[in-house]
Amino acid sequence: MAAAEVVREAQSLREKLDTWNYQYYVLDQPSVPDVEYDRAMLRLREIEQAHPELASDDSPTRRVGGEVLQQFGQVSHEVPMLSLDNAFSAEDMLSFNRRLLERLGDPGGELEYACEPKLDGIAVSLLYRDGVLQRGATRGDGNSGEDITHNVRTIRSIPLRLHGDDYPHLLEVRGEIYMPREGFERMNAAARERGEKTFVNPRNAAAGSLRQLDPKVTASRPLQMYCYGVGLVQGGELPARHSQVLERLGDWGLRVNGDTAVVQGIQACAEYYEGLAARRDALPYDIDGIVFKVNELALQQELGFVSRAPRWAIARKFPAQEELTRLLGVEFQVGRTGAITPVARLDPVFVGGVTVSNATLHNADEIERLDVRVGDTVIVRRAGDVIPQVVSVLRERRPRGARRIVFPATCPVCDSPLERAEGEAVWRCMGGLVCAAQQKAAIRHFASRRAMDIDGLGDKLVEQLVDAGMVDNVAGLYQLTQAQLAALERMGEKSAANLVAALEASKQTSLPRFIYALGIREVGEATALNLARHFGSWEKLCAAREEALLEVPDVGPVVADHLVQFFDSASSMAVVRQLRAAGVRWPDLEISADAQPLAGQTWVVTGKLEALTRDEAKAALQGLGAKVAGSVSAKTTAVAAGPGAGSKLARARELDIEVIDEQALLDLLAQHGVAP
Ligand code: IVH
Repeated sequence: MAAAEVVREAQSLREKLDTWNYQYYVLDQPSVPDVEYDRAMLRLREIEQAHPELASDDSPTRRVGGEVLQQFGQVSHEVPMLSLDNAFSAEDMLSFNRRLLERLGDPGGELEYACEPKLDGIAVSLLYRDGVLQRGATRGDGNSGEDITHNVRTIRSIPLRLHGDDYPHLLEVRGEIYMPREGFERMNAAARERGEKTFVNPRNAAAGSLRQLDPKVTASRPLQMYCYGVGLVQGGELPARHSQVLERLGDWGLRVNGDTAVVQGIQACAEYYEGLAARRDALPYDIDGIVFKVNELALQQELGFVSRAPRWAIARKFPAQEELTRLLGVEFQVGRTGAITPVARLDPVFVGGVTVSNATLHNADEIERLDVRVGDTVIVRRAGDVIPQVVSVLRERRPRGARRIVFPATCPVCDSPLERAEGEAVWRCMGGLVCAAQQKAAIRHFASRRAMDIDGLGDKLVEQLVDAGMVDNVAGLYQLTQAQLAALERMGEKSAANLVAALEASKQTSLPRFIYALGIREVGEATALNLARHFGSWEKLCAAREEALLEVPDVGPVVADHLVQFFDSASSMAVVRQLRAAGVRWPDLEISADAQPLAGQTWVVTGKLEALTRDEAKAALQGLGAKVAGSVSAKTTAVAAGPGAGSKLARARELDIEVIDEQALLDLLAQHGVAP
């Protein structure tokens, strides 16, 4: 028998681990460093190994079971899992509302609706008996599905035991398991690197991850769940409104979507739809529409069902994010670092809300993996901020004479040899600064708004300047005269004068912007900021060797190596000297090796931002030491909200948390040396 002390320790470790899990995976608010979590987990495992009688099934150590299944069991749904009727337009929504009002005998006034993003994932059912997770199942045909208990247990936002003690004796929770976009991109990029099969979209990735007989595989996939309703409920009362039921689920430790809303009337549903449609690309997950549900459960009951769908709910669908089109050809683009990217030229097609005529094919391996040929019918996908990509080929539609794609042997721009670094998928042009494509890309980057911000120096003009041999590196820009510029095609005296003034104005900059503008490999804005804050001056920075560089937050061996290479390169340093000789200058920063002015603060960024992307805002805040969370809670310090902010903004107002707009955020960043 374990001593009372050990029993208590195990109990306390379990509680801690459950709480940390909940904070991290459900609230999206990490509360302890990974090492501390790992240490506690290790200790609990140790105790449970020494005292197997202490190891209960809902222990956090038991998420990933040891055994691999032979096949999935079947589960029958006592309360069938229904599907939803679809609406495709505002008119469809109006007639839906009219139908409901008629059925309810025109009660007068507006109906109250719960509005919820329609996640594109896999519908699942979780059964809790006396608060303990008993079973997880897929929807299947609605009447019976597959038993995926071993896999749902590995999803850390799914509690193995509910919080509190006021849950029904039997509670079946329903919701969607999905893969967040970020995790999907990361997972696919890693698979691509290894030359393995990638998933076509987050939905397929989630489905594939759940359909594993070995729970270890599922455990390694970045899956998430949002709960959106209940099925079987016995031995307990639930509140009278759907939205309140979801709130209760939240209280019990289940993850519910914060982007939902309760509105009065169908007009307000339309507004919610427009608001979310505008934010669709910025959401961390894929949605294919919005679900509107009559909020009052008594009314739901009264309205009832038709065959496989409830009368009281409808899904208004968004335009598709995947479409079929034809591959017309492939061009090979040379990036700033010489990376050769094959770009598919497509028959223009409307997808994800825009017309797409180019899509990335990533690299040579990807072309081979897809086995794509010119003339093929392909599926293009455009979701979120991600660049459009060719995700698969319809082999059965391949026309005769479809042409194989030949990857070039030398740089398509400067004819220099291509090289592929060990373990990397990309081929790079070795021409460096001799390559016109790399020159152009470097100058475009240098001039871009978040770098030196040279107003009026657009892509076309960079093209002209390099092609005419007037500039071949960024320092050359500051030698350009008004007369030279005015002589260019499509350039008047006035624009030439403006550009000269913009070049002059750009010389007064900040150290982080300057470092970022140099375009050193892997040195993005956040890293540039960290470097500037850590070293304070350019002289100190370029005197730093690997060891010193590794002390900077967010700098690992790869970045450090790129930096050292840059500082060791005579030609790169000559360009820096020329820039400074031309008058490019910045104030040194106060060295603040560890001073992180926003340390201890938790921020939430929501809505649409104009001057920077949400990721950039996030990186900048993190660079200043803040944590950036995905949802608003009492622990949130402040919320930066752009237009279209929804429930997070509402929640912040409710909790009386400071809300600032984008301009105020930019001011705050500027105040700490982060160039807006
Ligand atoms: S409610 C009786 N709510 O959409 C109501 N479904 O076409 C049944 N889905 O199989 C579902 N997000 O997988 C509901 N907030 C949401 C949803 C949602 C996604 C999926 C679900 C269902 C399908 C119905």
